[in-house]
Amino acid sequence: MAKTILFLLLAILSSATATTRNHHGHGDKLTRFHFYIHDIPVAAKPTAVEVAGAPSFNKSPVRFSRVSVVDDPITETPDPKSRILGRVQGLYAFSSQTEASLSVFLNIVFTDKKYNGSQINFLGQDPLGLKVREMPIVGGTGAFRFAKGYVEFRTLQFDPSTGNAILDTNVYVVRSGYF
Ligand SMILES: *[C@@H]1O[C@H](CO)[C@@H](O)[C@H](O)[C@H]1NC(C)=O
Repeated sequence: MAKTILFLLLAILSSATATTRNHHGHGDKLTRFHFYIHDIPVAAKPTAVEVAGAPSFNKSPVRFSRVSVVDDPITETPDPKSRILGRVQGLYAFSSQTEASLSVFLNIVFTDKKYNGSQINFLGQDPLGLKVREMPIVGGTGAFRFAKGYVEFRTLQFDPSTGNAILDTNVYVVRSGYF
């Protein structure tokens, strides 16, 4: 019995090692980013623009069917004037009939320093009422080719009259050792 358990453990350990190292011996790397996304539908220069929605749901309190295109700045601190690390570009749609919840299709496009030009691409469901929302990374480009991992949103600030929001964002990305 003890031998079987030991064997199983060894098998699990060796397969875990095999999946995190490639044949050139460069291990995959887990990188964490912590930054702030400014999603500002109402301003002189909005960063999120509503482009569609079914008139039959105009009175929906959970905004069901509304679709927005976004180009949100990413900053190092909650201060919108702090260092810009990149943009979050893509779209989201209110897609629940019972709660305010977004389906997101978003791309983190880095513009700063060594990640300039590289992308992390993620999607998922973002139920706005939850304290922490998690969305999977589905891929990346440049430094993030073969990326996997997840993105976490926490709402730091939200103005219900405009929808303007600041999202406290964590990104846990596993990057290929090749890049
Ligand atoms: C990022 O890359 C673009 C295009 O290659 C370049 O124009 C820009 O100056 C770079 N930005 C930084 C901060 O290095």
